[in-house]
Amino acid sequence: MSEGRELLIRAIKNGIVIDHIPSEKVFAIVEILKLKEYSERITVATNMPSSSLGRKGIIKIEEKILEEKELNNISLLAPNVTINIIDNYEVVEKSKLDKLDKVIGLMKCDNPKCISNHENIETKFIRVEEDLNENNLEEKTKYKCFYCEKIILEDEIQIQ
Ligand code: CTP
Ligand code: ZN
Repeated sequence: MSEGRELLIRAIKNGIVIDHIPSEKVFAIVEILKLKEYSERITVATNMPSSSLGRKGIIKIEEKILEEKELNNISLLAPNVTINIIDNYEVVEKSKLDKLDKVIGLMKCDNPKCISNHENIETKFIRVEEDLNENNLEEKTKYKCFYCEKIILEDEIQIQ
């Protein structure tokens, strides 16, 4: 690091830090949290060096409390992020999000014939258990529509 030439991202006083975001998911999270309309200080960083991910993104949002629906939406898009709650500059809570087993009313079914696209009912998906492929790598997470059984891969998720 060249001394004095590098501005580090500043610590925040109160709020939340979403850390270890895959870089390509950062702007999707900015969008689902509607941060464009948010008036407190927000820091968004992508392609930051990370020992575990190679590169990562970070979003810091001052004075923000995440609601359950927002947490669920984040976990749909980027299940392995870390949520840090900051209170008076201290990390007072750190949690990893879990993948959702059931996803109700958050994502769209992309089958145009699906009843959930025609009737006024909440969408409902069940996570399909991952199989390990022959290289022992986890396959992509899949969700199955409860109504029409259409499978949605994690990269194809459309938030409602
Ligand atoms: N952070 C912040 N403002 C603070 C405290 C922490 O923005 N007042 C940020 C840090 O920059 C980091 C994240 O919150 O991105 C988590 O902080 P900390 O737990 O101190 O960092 P690490 O130990 O590196 O976290 P982890 O083990 O989860 O990688
Ligand atoms: Zn469906």
